Amino acid sequence: MLTFVKKYRDSFFYQAAQDCILIESVINNGGVMMLKKQTMWVSVLAATLALTACNAGDEETGGSNSGDEEASGESGEVEIFSWWTGAGEEDGLLALIDYFEEEHPDISVTNAAVAGGAGTNAKAVLATRMQGDDPPSTFQVHAGEELIQTWVAADMMEPLNDFYEQEELMDKFPEELIEMVSHDGNIYSVPMNVHRSNVMFYNKSVFEENGLEPPTTLDEFFDLAEELEAAGVTPLALGDQEPWTATHIFENILLAELGPDGYRDLWNGDISFEDPQVAPAAEAFAEVLEYVNDDHASRNWQDSAQLVGEGEAAMINMGDWAHGYFHNDLGLEVNEDYGYFPFPGTEGSFNVVSDTFGLPKGVDNVEDVETFLAVLASTEAQDIFNPLKGGIPARIDSDESKYDEYGQAAISDFQSDHLTPSLAHGSAMSEGYLTQANQAVNVFATQRDVERFLSSLETARGE
Ligand code: GAL
Repeated sequence: MLTFVKKYRDSFFYQAAQDCILIESVINNGGVMMLKKQTMWVSVLAATLALTACNAGDEETGGSNSGDEEASGESGEVEIFSWWTGAGEEDGLLALIDYFEEEHPDISVTNAAVAGGAGTNAKAVLATRMQGDDPPSTFQVHAGEELIQTWVAADMMEPLNDFYEQEELMDKFPEELIEMVSHDGNIYSVPMNVHRSNVMFYNKSVFEENGLEPPTTLDEFFDLAEELEAAGVTPLALGDQEPWTATHIFENILLAELGPDGYRDLWNGDISFEDPQVAPAAEAFAEVLEYVNDDHASRNWQDSAQLVGEGEAAMINMGDWAHGYFHNDLGLEVNEDYGYFPFPGTEGSFNVVSDTFGLPKGVDNVEDVETFLAVLASTEAQDIFNPLKGGIPARIDSDESKYDEYGQAAISDFQSDHLTPSLAHGSAMSEGYLTQANQAVNVFATQRDVERFLSSLETARGE
C-alpha cells in the first residue's frame, strides 16, 4: 500500500503540492464559480487531486485525518453528499432518503448534494471538505480508480470488510464490482447502482418518419447520419459544456474499434494510444463530431438529451441516467417515444459506470453511517432508487419486476455481456489522467489532429 501511495504521489502529488496554497485560496473565495469556463473544469479536477495531495502530504509530516476535529454528522444524523440535484438525477436520491427515514426515524438525513457541472463542482467541494477534516458522512464516488487512486491512496477511507461480512454482502454484488471498489484485500465502498455508458437513445418518431433502423456498426451509423442530415435533423445530440460528455462518446468509439479486450488493454497499458490500431478510433471520433448540434458547447447533458426528446436531434450517446431524465422529467415513454440500442459496434459489451458510497475516515457517527450504508446496500433501497435514476441495481438479487423494459434488458445484458470500465466516469483511470484526457478531447474537438490527440493521451499516462 505504501509503495502504491508513494508511486501515486511521485507521479502527481509532487506537482500538485506546488499548487496547494493557490488552489485552496481560490476555493475558499468561492472562486471556482468565478473561473473562466475554459479553465474551470481543468482547475476543479486538478483541485480535487491537489487538495488530496496536500492532505496526503500533511500525513507525512504528522498531520492526521482521523481525528479530533469535529467532522460532519452529529449522532442521529447522516449527511449524504452527491451531485444528484437536478433533472433526471434527484428523484432517485430523494426516494432513497425517504425510504431510509421511514426505516430509521431516529436518524435524520441531510442531503448535501452540490449542483452544477455533473459532479465537477461537487468534487471540488468534497476535496475542500476532506482536506479540512470535515468529511461528509458518506459521498458519491465512482467504483474504480476515482475511489482507489484518489481517496484510498490518500488513506482517507475506512475499509468496509467487516461491514460486508456483517451485512452478508460478499455474494450480493458481482465479483468484478467488488474488485473495483477494493484495494490490497480491503473493500472501500458499497455500490448503489450500475449505469451503462455504451447506450444510444433515439427518438422513435424521427427514425420512423425517415424509415431508419438502429445502426449496429459505426459504418452504418455514418450512413444513417448522412440520411438524417439530408432530412434536416441533427443526427447526434451533444452537450459538452462539461467536457466529459465528449469523452463519453470517445470511450465508446474506442470500445467499438478495439473490442472489450483491446479496450481493457488500452487502460492497463498493454496497448499504447500510439499503436496503429487506435488511430481509426480517433478518426471515427472526428467524423462523429461532424454530426453533432452546432450549439453543443453551450449545452449540458440534460439540454442535449432534450433535443432528442423533442425530435430536433435523432440520437444521443449518454449513460442511462438519460433514461431517468426522459421518463421522469420529460414524461416520455420508453419504446414508444424513445428507443435504445448499444452504441454501434459495442453489442455484447457493457461499459460500466457505478456510483458507490463509502465511509470516510474521521466521521464521528460511524454507526449511523453504517446503518445508512446497510440500507443503501439492500435490495429494497436499490429497487426504489434505480428505477427512478434510470440504471440498474448493483445487487445481483434484485426484484426485476420493479424495472421497466429498458431496465430489464439492461439487467440481462449486465449478466451476460463483457464488462468494461468507463473512462469518462472515473473507473478506468485516475482522476489526474481523466482531467488530461478531457482536456485532450476538448482540444481535439476543435483541432481534429489525430496524431497530437493520441500522443497526448499516451503521454498523460506518465504524468
Ligand atoms: C455520472 C454519475 C451518474 C450521473 C451522471 C450525470 O458520473 O455516475 O450517476 O450522475 O454522472 O450527472
